[in-house]
Amino acid sequence: MATAHKNPYAPDSGAVPAPEPEPATAPDGEALSPESLQQEYYELRERFRRTTNALASATHDLKTPLAILNGYVELLTSEKLGPLTDRQREVLRDMQASGRRLQQFIQDFLTYSALETGGLRMQFEPGNINDTLSEVCRLWSSRFQEKALALYFLANDKLPVFPFDPPKLERVVSNLLENSFKFTPRGGTVWLHAEPHMWDRRAATQPSAAERRRQNLNQPNAVKVSVADTGPGIPAEFHQEVFDDFFRLPGTESEEGTGLGLAIARRLVQGMGGKIWVESDPAGGCKFSFLIPYKPAVAPAGKGKNR
Ligand SMILES: Nc1ncnc2c1ncn2[C@@H]1O[C@H](COP(=O)(O)OP(=O)(O)O)[C@@H](O)[C@H]1O
Ligand SMILES: [Mg+2]
Repeated sequence: MATAHKNPYAPDSGAVPAPEPEPATAPDGEALSPESLQQEYYELRERFRRTTNALASATHDLKTPLAILNGYVELLTSEKLGPLTDRQREVLRDMQASGRRLQQFIQDFLTYSALETGGLRMQFEPGNINDTLSEVCRLWSSRFQEKALALYFLANDKLPVFPFDPPKLERVVSNLLENSFKFTPRGGTVWLHAEPHMWDRRAATQPSAAERRRQNLNQPNAVKVSVADTGPGIPAEFHQEVFDDFFRLPGTESEEGTGLGLAIARRLVQGMGGKIWVESDPAGGCKFSFLIPYKPAVAPAGKGKNR
């Protein structure tokens, strides 16, 4: 399998094996003490935070001129300023598509930087997750129809009302559906599914049957949401890396995208105290699943891996 491709502006997330790290030393060659290493770490994090903020602010400044350009393209397309030739209409359609891509990139990058610098807080409110999932399906249904893709979702009445962040959960599911939509060839099928799940976080030490009963461990304590498709699937060696920032699989560069969709989904799921993973059959198709606990044990949305 070839090495994975990333966007050229992406930070290196390790597709090429990193060289052995040198022991950390001060400029005079002396080994650094744990205190100075920690100090260095804080300074680097602070510099990273400032750079990300500066990039986000520059990206934000692109929003207004882009909205104006998109508005003019729409005005021209409406032919209110005069009739268009077929060729002009075609050019305007291309401009519209490029405008949408740029808008998507800006939105993804702003969400990513807000999550990365801790600027996006979770807002939990009790709700029925079925409503959120059917709303996302409704938003995607016409695009799926246009590509002759079947999208199945059946509300699950076994799911209780519990506190979660509906717009952020919508974003996670939307990012997963977008990928299935993009990578599944015409005529394929996509399933969205949600069910109660018993999440045992201490898989290493299996509790006894008595302990399970005492702690109510047989009761579902989380919802498991899955998006499965009949697309090309993802080779097992990339099942962790697909969640890295700016990561894209070899051969998918021609598709629209920034490689941030799954990285954002991972951070949002973790922000709700959950975890996300992918399974894929070598014969094709893949299934992304995530767990959200009924009682949020809040983790910082921005940092950390899912591992
Ligand atoms: N459903 C899927 N089927 C096949 N490949 C997928 C699927 N979802 C994600 N991938 C792979 O994972 C990569 C990262 O996905 P994502 O972070 O959403 O970035 P983007 O969609 O912008 O490329 C994609 O570029 C693609 O290579
Ligand atoms: Mg994507």
